[in-house]
Amino acid sequence: MKFFLDTAIVDEVAKMVDTGLVDGVTTNPSLIAKTGAKLEDTIAAMCKLTNGPVSAEVTATDSQGMIEQGISLRKIADNVCIKIPLTMEGLRATHKLSASGHPVNMTLCFSANQALLAAKAGARFISPFIGRLDDLGANGMDLISDIRLMYDNYPALKTEILAASIRSVGHMREAALIGADIATLPTKVMMDMVKHPLTSSGLDAFLADWEATGQNIL
Ligand code: G3P
Repeated sequence: MKFFLDTAIVDEVAKMVDTGLVDGVTTNPSLIAKTGAKLEDTIAAMCKLTNGPVSAEVTATDSQGMIEQGISLRKIADNVCIKIPLTMEGLRATHKLSASGHPVNMTLCFSANQALLAAKAGARFISPFIGRLDDLGANGMDLISDIRLMYDNYPALKTEILAASIRSVGHMREAALIGADIATLPTKVMMDMVKHPLTSSGLDAFLADWEATGQNIL
């Protein structure tokens, strides 16, 4: 499974890239707005921190506008991936951009049918939003399962499942068990993944016992 960080905070990515756990970054207009920074500056900085895909979202709602904005975003760096919402206009834009070799991440996916359309349009990634379905009382993970099964029925479909709207370590575990290709997660969730009380207490015990030996490792 590849891990993308879901953030527009450049410092967050800068602090995590040396772990080797960051395979890319996803942003969206809301994440960008929270930082107060310019989109172009943020995406350019992210693209220098990782060689992986950095998703930058268009804000046009018509296909021609999406295409124009997408091509502009792609000029920022070679590893920019164009994020496009799952609408019919978005599918039109995805088809044309993908056919021209531009990678597209189709976002705001909430149904398996939407994911099927995105794959047909040639999207590089599909972003099903798990947490937002859970927020409505649905089971967002069922969507990941449905898409995985659907795509596996048709090997010609090359779109990668990018599990999004990840809110917990439970989401990460379940998405990986199902076989999502990628998860895009907040930095906090990545930090939480490594934590376990028995690891902490076990390490404390090892260090205390070692201290008692009076030895040092060179
Ligand atoms: O990449 C999509 C993600 O940022 C949405 O997450 O928590 O706003 O549903 P959330």
